[in-house]
Amino acid sequence: MLRTHTCGELRPDHIGQTVTLCGWVQRTRDKGGISWIDLRDRYGITQLALEEGVETEALREAARNLGREFVLQVSGRVAERYSKNPNMPTGEVEIRVESLQVLNPAKLPPFLIEDETDGGDDLRMKYRYLDLRRNAVRRNLELRSKLAQQVRRYLDEQQFIEVETPVLIKSTPEGARDFVVPSRMNPGQFYALPQSPQTFKQLLMVSGFDKYFQIVKCFRDEDLRADRQPEFTQIDCELSFVEQEDILNIFEGMTRHLFREVKGLEIGEFPRMTYADAMRLYGSDKPDTRFAMQFVELNDVAKGQGFPVFENAELVVGINAAGQSGFTRKQLDELTDFVRRPQVGATGLVYARVEPDGTVKSSVDKFYSQEVLQTWKAAFNAAPNDLLLILAGPADKTRKALNELRLEMGQRLGLRNKEDFRPLWVLDFPLLEFNEEDGRYYAMHHPFTSPKPEDVALLDTAPGQVRANAYDLVINGVEIGGGSIRIHDRAVQARMFKLLGFSDEEAQAQFGFLLDAFEYGAPPHGGIALGFDRLCSMFGGADSIRDFIAFPKNNSGRDVMIDSPSPISGAQLKELSIETTVEEKL
Ligand code: AMO
Repeated sequence: MLRTHTCGELRPDHIGQTVTLCGWVQRTRDKGGISWIDLRDRYGITQLALEEGVETEALREAARNLGREFVLQVSGRVAERYSKNPNMPTGEVEIRVESLQVLNPAKLPPFLIEDETDGGDDLRMKYRYLDLRRNAVRRNLELRSKLAQQVRRYLDEQQFIEVETPVLIKSTPEGARDFVVPSRMNPGQFYALPQSPQTFKQLLMVSGFDKYFQIVKCFRDEDLRADRQPEFTQIDCELSFVEQEDILNIFEGMTRHLFREVKGLEIGEFPRMTYADAMRLYGSDKPDTRFAMQFVELNDVAKGQGFPVFENAELVVGINAAGQSGFTRKQLDELTDFVRRPQVGATGLVYARVEPDGTVKSSVDKFYSQEVLQTWKAAFNAAPNDLLLILAGPADKTRKALNELRLEMGQRLGLRNKEDFRPLWVLDFPLLEFNEEDGRYYAMHHPFTSPKPEDVALLDTAPGQVRANAYDLVINGVEIGGGSIRIHDRAVQARMFKLLGFSDEEAQAQFGFLLDAFEYGAPPHGGIALGFDRLCSMFGGADSIRDFIAFPKNNSGRDVMIDSPSPISGAQLKELSIETTVEEKL
């Protein structure tokens, strides 16, 4: 070892010992007779001191020539500091330097490697290896590592077996586009990178592995957002001879274990909500349940009074922001602008305040008598000083818009505390969703999800109403994971493919291996996958998953550090039997 201790380790107990540290120069200060160097490594910062008359002039000269981020090896005696720094774990001691060796000089870094950096996003992504030296980013990766260890510990104790599945496969339908890889040895043919190991984990169940997990990279070519990367990591799991209840219990147990071991938090039993209730009460299949403001449907009390916007609407629905009647006209105008933004898509906002004396004053008073407004108040179960916010329009669109408004209100009112964790199971998702544009059904989760036995009869008559044995784990409004009980019967699976518009030949060509496997003793099985990056950012109190990934892609799917994707040579293309690039063709 080139060092005896780390830069985060020394305490008053070490005073008098001679030690050797290695690290990077955080900063140097020179005050006439004495100079200091802050030496940093992964574990912390230790102050080095060089005093005139104590250390040799050669040593002091060497110290004067150091720049930021030089890599040093330093030996010396641990001493008590003259002026202590209570904010640093090593703040009571310093090292009186006896020898100093520059292991490697460094160019001036393009941004400050400190908690408050002056580097913009793009610059820090280009020099990600320098950004990773900063405390905040490094801590995120330490958290990620800790979470991965605890996931393995929990699942290992539950007798799960970790199996690696291949990365060069063929399409798995999880609803995004595939990344494809040309095969040199099979001209004109392509592998697809897995959107998830879904089919392989099901085959492992046919193999009798019965409890499988993998912390695994998945690849999806889809539009990127704060919580989406083109390559991301799942905690992917599958079990045989289980029912939905077993899976919910095991993974609720795992999530609780992680909160306990990694954050020191005891989280109670997770509430459960059906998809139908989540949509009705929150307008979202991933409700943020840190705060109430549940939807109240008002068709009964809002219609029939001649207010055209409500008369013509399929749905009139609102929320009660309790105690917020003090919202000013300006704030309400801001909310109106908010709901009218194209991303939210409402046409306007109706509001009503409950006055301290219990009367209701609304923005549509001329259409509604006080008597009717009192029925609104009753519907909302509202009290004096409450603020009622109401939207109207087509049902689905209006629920979505009110969900956005609810979240915005939660944000404005400080109700979305990042250290308050509210997990929730959302159950009974629809099996299929109808796409108006294509005029056909798509699997809401994926095509291997089984319908609820009691809904199977509806498959022929009302496919849209069939519920699935599918569930999502939602925490604070983020979809952390999802899974389902699978189809394990060849005939049912074939019927499902047909419903999804596959011909028998197409189904056989794409998924014949799975259909065939179902004929060799497939056990009943089900599973779940948790988005590991999302879990990490949730535990780290952040919205974006990017800072919990060592080398993430930017919003255009590029790695700007290694400059990828990038063109490949004509020779390579030829070898892959890909004759010309698009530009050459043009
Ligand atoms: P699903 O598609 O719901 O299910 O994915 C599971 C979880 O993975 C996370 N996730 C993502 N995280 C970051 N970037 C992305 N682009 C991204 N896409 C998904 C989410 C999501 O809840 N095979 C099924 C699981 C199963 O049925 O067992 C599957 O992949 O947190």
